[in-house]
Amino acid sequence: MMRFDILSIFPEMFESFFGCSLLKKARDRGLIRIEAHNIRDGATDRHRMTDDYPYGGGAGMVMKVEPIARVLEAIDAVPGECLRVLLTPQGETFSQAIAGELAQSSRVVLICGHYEGVDERVRQNLVDREISIGDYVLTGGEAAAMVVVDAVARLIPGVLGNEESARHESFAKGLLESPQYTRPEEFRGWKVPDVLLSGHHREIEDWRRRESLKRTLERRPDLLATAALTEKDRTFLEDLKKEP
Ligand SMILES: C[S@@+](CC[C@H](N)C(=O)[O-])C[C@H]1O[C@@H](n2cnc3c(N)ncnc32)[C@H](O)[C@@H]1O
Repeated sequence: MMRFDILSIFPEMFESFFGCSLLKKARDRGLIRIEAHNIRDGATDRHRMTDDYPYGGGAGMVMKVEPIARVLEAIDAVPGECLRVLLTPQGETFSQAIAGELAQSSRVVLICGHYEGVDERVRQNLVDREISIGDYVLTGGEAAAMVVVDAVARLIPGVLGNEESARHESFAKGLLESPQYTRPEEFRGWKVPDVLLSGHHREIEDWRRRESLKRTLERRPDLLATAALTEKDRTFLEDLKKEP
């Protein structure tokens, strides 16, 4: 069982996303637990403020440190017993490799910011890791938390149902996955490659490997530098590069 706790000022945003599909099934089967907590519950002032004006002036509001600290305490998110992650465009860029690292923890706590971001003391004192989901700025961390939980949860044994698919998919072996087809064999004259209908498992595997290499060379040549490649793969890639 892996547990995710999400701190947000809009915890209701997560109900629909985590209430459908494979993640719902995984929750129902007790493989993962996802709890969304309202940061407002940690606010102690009369108006239950979670944000305030920035010291030194400037545009927008900044999320306060106290409510976040209090919610972390209320849910026993103590250092060493969970991994506390701040979602921020300034963090390390999320990847399949980082999803794999997070999946090693039994409990991940995700903190979602809003407005101009969170008081720097959250980053300095209350988190273990900072993650960005890409080089763009969102209005809040909720969509980023959904991305992270989704990518990590599907690595938990049993969540996918078919563990084989995780072994073959894009990035799993440092390459993009080969093209996929399903029925019918032909639609509007668009045909499925013959080899996939041949029933020759060895040939199908070889075709998939070649397509995977070809696709990675075309779309993400940067991945080839670190992918585990055989001599046969390298020869195939060299020949591809020579093609006009
Ligand atoms: C408008 S952003 C704040 C950006 C901040 N002023 C800055 O320049 O770094 C509000 C919140 O959305 C979330 N957020 C925005 N973009 C994100 C990204 N690319 N990855 C993860 N979280 C993001 C963070 O939680 C952030 O605190």
